[in-house]
Amino acid sequence: MAIISPSLLSADFTRLDRDIDMINRSEADWLHLDVMDGVFVPNISFGFPVLKGVAKICKKKLDVHLMIVDPGKFTEQVKALGAYMMNVHYEACPHLHRTIQQIHDAGMKAGVTLNPHTPVNVLEDIIQDVDMVLLMTVNPGFGGQKFIEHSIEKVKKLKNLIEKTGSKALIEVDGGVNAETGKRLVEAGTDVLVAGSYIFGTEDPEGRISLLKGL
Ligand code: DX5
Ligand code: ZN
Repeated sequence: MAIISPSLLSADFTRLDRDIDMINRSEADWLHLDVMDGVFVPNISFGFPVLKGVAKICKKKLDVHLMIVDPGKFTEQVKALGAYMMNVHYEACPHLHRTIQQIHDAGMKAGVTLNPHTPVNVLEDIIQDVDMVLLMTVNPGFGGQKFIEHSIEKVKKLKNLIEKTGSKALIEVDGGVNAETGKRLVEAGTDVLVAGSYIFGTEDPEGRISLLKGL
């Protein structure tokens, strides 16, 4: 059974308490929070003042995805939210090993995120040190984009690397996840499904979460 991490990016920002209540009631395991800076990605989402409010009322584990330059700089602020997982982009961290250490020293799980063009083999020398690898299955910055088909092969390659090295890292995917792509992603070895528009773009978001959970 996959771990489900609904992405708040597709929620109704005028009704955040209602949407977070729905997540709290649902079978979701985590809540995925997308922070964007308009530099690393061509969009800006929400920042720490908003996340503080969200953290106060959310009962699920917080899965923070930082699409920003120099993410390590914000480790203490992410920790202050009580986050479970802090995901940083491989492409934004010239000293990734140090950043992972900082996240662990702060008492959080550390995730490394790869953009669609970044091959999984760049993780060969760090895979033992991370708790999760987040594969972008669309280009980061926007919800509601089309799933990149090559991602299925990428999940299989990553699974292979994890098994070969004896790493305990989870595989999370983010972008274009629905019942159809989700099923194939889970079959390929995915542990955690992030979904935004598939969940929130419907009258029955809780039902969609259950459906993904059962894949
Ligand atoms: C995109 C974000 C995703 C986004 C996914 O940059 O990282 O988490 O919310 O949205 P969907 O599920 O609609 O593709
Ligand atoms: Zn994300």
